[in-house]
Amino acid sequence: MIVTIDGPAAAGKGTLAAKISEKYNLACFDTGMIYRAVGLKLIIDGKNVEDEDSALGVAQNMTFPLMMELSKHPDFRSSAGGNAASKVSAIPSVRQALLQMQRDFAKSPRFPDGRPASGVVYDGRDAGTVICPNADKKFFITAAPEVRAMRRYKEFQQKGISTTYEEVLAQTKERDARDSSRSSAPMKPAEDAVIIDTSNLSIDEVYQKVCEIIDS
Ligand code: DC
Repeated sequence: MIVTIDGPAAAGKGTLAAKISEKYNLACFDTGMIYRAVGLKLIIDGKNVEDEDSALGVAQNMTFPLMMELSKHPDFRSSAGGNAASKVSAIPSVRQALLQMQRDFAKSPRFPDGRPASGVVYDGRDAGTVICPNADKKFFITAAPEVRAMRRYKEFQQKGISTTYEEVLAQTKERDARDSSRSSAPMKPAEDAVIIDTSNLSIDEVYQKVCEIIDS
């Protein structure tokens, strides 16, 4: 079974994907990680994240183990990491270079410990539209920018990252605008996706709703 969960940053996709993964024995692929890995590698190498040649070079050499290694870096999940990811992900040739790796994951899905899985739950922006247009179930999870920015701000506070709510809100809006207006695979719900606004829902309420739809 292939399930796709797309939507903007901090809508709750990752938490939902982890719960779905556990319940249905599906391996998780957080596709934002590969764009974060490419963006971070460029920053570490002192390159401009908007330079197509540099970004494409990194994307063409990106592998699963390298992505996992880079994910340990403190900036991987930071605002700077998210912004760099959003910028490299707007370059069509970079997206193309990373597409097969994402599709191949579903050929023989495995959990991080090597156990075989019964399928994949993808989380990202174009999982239902581009990576797996034939997925069994597609969801588009969203929430008001103010709600998402508050969730992110609280996460940053817990991690001891110094920032303000206003700063996080501005970055959230900037990322939404870039991710949904880019020419290649813009963030949008697939035509057959179920759209869920989580602004006034708890994670458990969203999870129940999604499980009912999958079970049906
Ligand atoms: O989900 P995330 O915040 O980790 O994603 C980081 C950036 O990567 C996001 O701003 C847009 C990009 N992205 C994408 O273009 N396509 C995906 N399938 C996943 C993420």
